[in-house]
Amino acid sequence: MHTVKVSLGDRSYDIELGTGLDQAGAHLKELGLGQKMALVTNPLIKKLHGQRMVDSLKAAGFLVMSVEVPDGEQYKNLDWANAIYTALLTNGFDRKSALVAFGGGVIGDLTGFAAATFMRGVPFVQVPTTLLAMVDSSVGGKTGVNHPMGKNMIGAFYQPKKVLMDLAVLKTLPREEFLSGMAEVIKYGVIRDAAFFDYLDKNREEILSLEPDVLTHIIKRSCEIKAEVVSKDEREGGLRAILNFGHTVGHAIETAENYTMRHGEAVAIGMVYASRLAHKTGLCDAAVPEQVEKLVRSYGLPTDLSALKRRPGVTELMDTMQIDKKAEGGKVKFILPKTIGEVVITKEWEEGHLKNLLAD
Ligand SMILES: NC(=O)c1ccc[n+]([C@@H]2O[C@H](COP(=O)([O-])OP(=O)(O)OC[C@H]3O[C@@H](n4cnc5c(N)ncnc54)[C@H](O)[C@@H]3O)[C@@H](O)[C@H]2O)c1
Ligand SMILES: [Zn+2]
Repeated sequence: MHTVKVSLGDRSYDIELGTGLDQAGAHLKELGLGQKMALVTNPLIKKLHGQRMVDSLKAAGFLVMSVEVPDGEQYKNLDWANAIYTALLTNGFDRKSALVAFGGGVIGDLTGFAAATFMRGVPFVQVPTTLLAMVDSSVGGKTGVNHPMGKNMIGAFYQPKKVLMDLAVLKTLPREEFLSGMAEVIKYGVIRDAAFFDYLDKNREEILSLEPDVLTHIIKRSCEIKAEVVSKDEREGGLRAILNFGHTVGHAIETAENYTMRHGEAVAIGMVYASRLAHKTGLCDAAVPEQVEKLVRSYGLPTDLSALKRRPGVTELMDTMQIDKKAEGGKVKFILPKTIGEVVITKEWEEGHLKNLLAD
């Protein structure tokens, strides 16, 4: 088993990789939680892996109630947060009762938000089951739900007590979902670790065949990088913004596609455009966008706007980014690579450059 520590003072916690679901109960026992526990999941994950999880929690002495949320981003909303509160209240949960998020990023964000707000905060644990949730959404404490007027508009920073990962659950994850998570893994290489970027290039076959040691390494390294960044800047006052590499154009693409494109796919395209913009801005040489594009493509991820169902206009994309910018009250901040392994957060880029790239 491998442990990555997220250091946040009295809110510090461990990410444990390689814990079988069968040992989840025993691990959670150590946290001193109340006896009542709500396992929040969706019908698909429950059917695939739920029984092992429930058995393991029960064997450790927890009184487990399952709460099922339908599968899909559209259920990450206040109505379903409310459904969780109702289940907790109906079953006499109190401030010591814990919530376990057992699923992908949708379940993790929703459950974390419910935990942050129920009785002003009850303990919660993340047991992520998608690659994206393992390397990104389960770590760092951003929780939230969508509003009809915007994604992730309602939320809270709220850290879990522990993150437990059984990598074997990835065997049932559809290939496209796995690849979507790989976009975030590639992101960590570009923003922080050139050797890791190389590793992803050299070990593609092992990664794609879910070879356990290699898979453990890439998830662990991704968590270490995210943990390091979040520990230095929990609430995105500065450094944490580097995690948004590829996400500025990525969000505009997701909006244009009405959120029908997978997050990682949009981020993949966004990383390629951000790297090209970095070159046009004079921050890096032409090899950087070429390398990023090559690695992204080699993982079967899209690299440009032709992958969209409907090609959005340049103005449409620029306008969406503008809306993001209004929220910040200034020019859009881009995360641009100087080289593979190092990025800058900057407002010094030219609109004309980006427009030309998007029109190409
Ligand atoms: N909080 C954060 O910091 C953060 C970061 C990135 C993304 N997110 C959020 O995460 C969400 C996306 O998460 P996601 O990509 O994990 O999507 P998801 O949770 O929708 O899961 C994708 C699909 O895979 C299925 N699934 C999950 N685990 C499985 C398994 N082991 N085997 C088979 N099928 C499985 C799910 O039922 C679902 O159909 C978005 O809502 C996004 O906003 C949050
Ligand atoms: Zn992301």
